[in-house]
Amino acid sequence: MDLKNRLNKNLNKITVSAIRLFDQEVSTIPGIQKLTLGEPNFFTPDHVKQAAIKSIQDNQNHYTHNAGLIELRQAIADFYQEKYALKFRAEDEILTTVGVTEAISTVIYSIIEANDQILIPAPAYPGYGAPILLNGGEIVEIDTRSEGFLLTPYLLDNTLKNSPRAKALILNYPSNPTGASYSREQLAQLAKVISQYNIFVIADEVYSELSYSLEGHHSIAEFIPEQTIILNGLSKSHAMTGWRIGYILAQRELISEFTKTHQYLVTAASTTSQYAALEALRNGKDDPNVMKKAYIERRDFLVKSLKTLNFQVINPAGAFYIFAKIPEFVSLNSHDFLLDFAKKKSFAFIPGSAFGKFGEGYVRISYASSMEVIKSAMSALDDYLKEYLN
Ligand SMILES: Cc1ncc(COP(=O)(O)O)c(C=O)c1O
Repeated sequence: MDLKNRLNKNLNKITVSAIRLFDQEVSTIPGIQKLTLGEPNFFTPDHVKQAAIKSIQDNQNHYTHNAGLIELRQAIADFYQEKYALKFRAEDEILTTVGVTEAISTVIYSIIEANDQILIPAPAYPGYGAPILLNGGEIVEIDTRSEGFLLTPYLLDNTLKNSPRAKALILNYPSNPTGASYSREQLAQLAKVISQYNIFVIADEVYSELSYSLEGHHSIAEFIPEQTIILNGLSKSHAMTGWRIGYILAQRELISEFTKTHQYLVTAASTTSQYAALEALRNGKDDPNVMKKAYIERRDFLVKSLKTLNFQVINPAGAFYIFAKIPEFVSLNSHDFLLDFAKKKSFAFIPGSAFGKFGEGYVRISYASSMEVIKSAMSALDDYLKEYLN
């Protein structure tokens, strides 16, 4: 029997995320300190944990509605109304998911058929690729390196003109891995282009609460609500990665279809986690601010240190990553450079190549680690580069 050959052939196009692979590769190094994963080094706020405990004690141990608790969907609707003046109905325009990860899969499985094209400004988060390829879709990466990692209206229009099978654009702002984000005006310009094509824009806004510009975060849905599918969640805003709560906001006709896919994937998100998310959204609006303050301090320190070490850096406007260009005098590729650095100095970052072909030559440093670890990492990098040059 040759059962392996009887699997979905599209699986051959997919590998385990290169972020996880590198993280596992360096994890065996004794004493390794990792600035690798997108995992906040904060605890979930206490009032959120108490709400979850209370829900367990109150015997809230049943399935919820497939789309999630109506109170939670109302809290999500209130959040988008208050922050963006966007109106989504709790009853039929919001779907609660198992993290943004499931939101991505649910939306892509619901949209993509064989040979459809999905446009992704790159370097990009690798989580989008697998569901697209599993459905037989095609990824069209748009190189944003010369534009400060931002998609421009020209780049977008040009790519769309040459992508006759384009069905959607994925826009992630602030971005993992670059920290780049869009101003209201930039989103308005992109929206103008998108409105001329019969495509969806999937807006991954999971880092919306970690936006550092004075203008704050804007959503492209403010300009083209009919075409936009918003993805967001609690993982980064409230240090709740392990609780697995995300959500989708879109027009009613879309949410009703997405709910079918979601139902057969997971039925519903965890009830306990939904009660935690409800508390976070109702009474934890200021929770992200404490973390944001710490992230800004770390970002500023890293930008300064990396520039001193001859890395080219663009000041991140959000999230908790820095995507820095490796100095020219280093002749190794990003993987070999960081593996050698990890082995010699016991600090790990993620090779830029984990974010697609346009990420080669860069490193991604997650500053969701303590300032103490970040400072030691920069001093180890300084030592390493001095030794490298000698
Ligand atoms: C851009 C982006 N989207 C989605 C996710 C997944 O988020 P969640 O933990 O809510 O599944 C991540 C996680 O790192 C991310 O960086």
